[in-house]
Amino acid sequence: MMSHNKFRSGIVTRATWQEKESNVTPQSVFKQRRQIIQALGLGAIATSIPGAVHAGIFDVFDSAPPTQALQPLQYVKSPNAEDQILTPFDKVTSHNNFYEFGTAKSDPAENSQQFNTKPWQLVIDGEVDKPVTIDIDDLMARFPLEERIYRLRCVEAWSMVIPWIGIPLASILRMVAPNSQAKYVAFETLFDPEQMPGQKHRLMGGGIQYPYVEGLTIAEAMNPLTLLSVGLYGKTLPPQNGAPIRLVVPWKYGFKSIKSIVRIRLTSTQPPTTWSQLAANEYGFFANVNPMVDHPRWSQATERRIDAGGLFSARRIETQMFNGYGEQVADLYSNIDLKRFY
Ligand code: MTE
Repeated sequence: MMSHNKFRSGIVTRATWQEKESNVTPQSVFKQRRQIIQALGLGAIATSIPGAVHAGIFDVFDSAPPTQALQPLQYVKSPNAEDQILTPFDKVTSHNNFYEFGTAKSDPAENSQQFNTKPWQLVIDGEVDKPVTIDIDDLMARFPLEERIYRLRCVEAWSMVIPWIGIPLASILRMVAPNSQAKYVAFETLFDPEQMPGQKHRLMGGGIQYPYVEGLTIAEAMNPLTLLSVGLYGKTLPPQNGAPIRLVVPWKYGFKSIKSIVRIRLTSTQPPTTWSQLAANEYGFFANVNPMVDHPRWSQATERRIDAGGLFSARRIETQMFNGYGEQVADLYSNIDLKRFY
């Protein structure tokens, strides 16, 4: 069954999901550009641009606030990581969607640095023979950590290339032995309004009901690409990126990649998901990246790749079906009308 075999053998030989070098900009070029912008005094102009444009392009010139102390991780490196030029760490950790900490792109980094992620228990239960409640440190000691360099395509039509570190979800699900009723996997973010101020204000969170919830079919959850991430750029996850553990499903829009997970429940029926509860006509359960199915309010044919630069290099590129991971996942949807089940 196509490329799945290479994962089954445990040896990741060729990583077709990895980003081509031509799609990204070297960090040295970025630094030079930043210096030029600063020298020209363009930073001030940038901050006076309102709304979406500001959030999308100009905020790349803000530096990330100091982040929580992050721990280095031991992991198996991505096979061709040397060839990759990534969205810089600063950008990955300062341009975020994490509504529990505020709705502006810079809010999560600013508001989450006191977020307490130790100790952190993860419950895995539901339609399984061996439910567990496991501490994240134990989970990380139990499974080898792998680096996965994936494209993250947000439904808002921007994207990044991020070196995640994590554990394939399939390995963790095998540990709990799903039973024959397990057709879906439901995920839940921590609910703690004291720590996550956005949860106190439904309006501030755009009308979202908390806790944030997400779901996958069992086949999607077992796909070798699906990762529970505990880190990025060699270290534990910064809180703004979903510490201490978040989902990464690279062929789906970013909102499926739920952050700061406390519970994974296997279910017999399709679980509710936060964004489809809010606007089912805009955000479906599947949410596969699909350039042919537009969001009702904007096109999904192209995306702005946030890489090393910003003003001059947040290039518009064509969005790929399944975010370019069709070889690994298209067979999951061979019997599904992807226009209807978006
Ligand atoms: N998870 C929770 N709990 N709350 C959120 O607001 N935002 C989602 C997703 N996971 C979100 C979340 C969206 S819309 C995106 S695009 C990604 O997280 C962004 O991940 P990043 O900030 O690490 O790039």
